[in-house]
Amino acid sequence: MVIIHAAPELGEFLQNLRLGGRRIGFVPTMGALHDGHASLIRCAKRETDVVVLSIFVNPTQFNETADFTNYPKTTDADLNLARSEKVDVVFSPQVADVYGDEMRTEPTDYGSLTAAFEGESRPGHFDGVVSVVRRLFNIVRPDVAFFGEKDLQQLAVIRHLAKLEFPELEIFGCSLIRDDDGLALSSRNTRIPRDQRSHALELHKALLEVAEASKSSGSLQAAIDRNLTRLQRNEHIELEYFAAVDSKNFAVLQSEETSNQSFAIVAAVVAGVRLIDNCRL
Ligand code: PAJ
Repeated sequence: MVIIHAAPELGEFLQNLRLGGRRIGFVPTMGALHDGHASLIRCAKRETDVVVLSIFVNPTQFNETADFTNYPKTTDADLNLARSEKVDVVFSPQVADVYGDEMRTEPTDYGSLTAAFEGESRPGHFDGVVSVVRRLFNIVRPDVAFFGEKDLQQLAVIRHLAKLEFPELEIFGCSLIRDDDGLALSSRNTRIPRDQRSHALELHKALLEVAEASKSSGSLQAAIDRNLTRLQRNEHIELEYFAAVDSKNFAVLQSEETSNQSFAIVAAVVAGVRLIDNCRL
């Protein structure tokens, strides 16, 4: 496994492989790697010839300074995981390697896709995500890039970015990976105290109940309302949103009718940790 810090060096290294006809797969991450990230790497190993994993905690996508400062950093463990998953290249840049002298973001307006839910809860978040991913795509120039359905809205935003600016690039969506108890794996989960974990699990329970109602003859809207009220009343949960949406544009579902793009989505703060989760309907 090669570890590269500078963009020009990475460009040169990959250009040689590209000229040799190898397909480049790219898995962008912010480190603190877990099984969710590993599943993306495995997907990339299956689909492409050379897997580039980036580890870069992007300052511009954090709308709260404390979240950025507290973001877990586990470099040695990350490199071990990357090695054991047979990553070919780890790209681990400094801020200046990605942004140059000025850490600037470009405003991104993809309508409801960037304005609703995560866009509304975290002002400027998608400006930061799109700005860094655009820069990383330009540095790595991958054939296929891999993103998790865990961050369902981010995946839709990146698909839109690729459609507009990187038409040759394939965006591959990978399934959400959960812990044994059902909690969606996230780098931030290590900050949830053990005795608060059951409250975090309420989010998944609520999603499952809505998914169940959508598959049976139960009313979807009634299940949303019931679970919304239950989550709102739970004093351990600061609910930000709970809704059924079309995952293509993040518009709220207007009828009981679902498609294979319909998802229930949730965001909440539990024990000071912001969690997001979703479930296909
Ligand atoms: P990060 O949170 O590190 O996630 C990197 C990738 O791993 C994302 O595509 C995310 O959806 C995926 N992922 C995280 N947890 C997952 C899980 N439980 N199951 C499946 N996939 C999971 O997302 C980011 O970083 C950043 O916004 C980034 C795209 C790197 C831009 O800075």
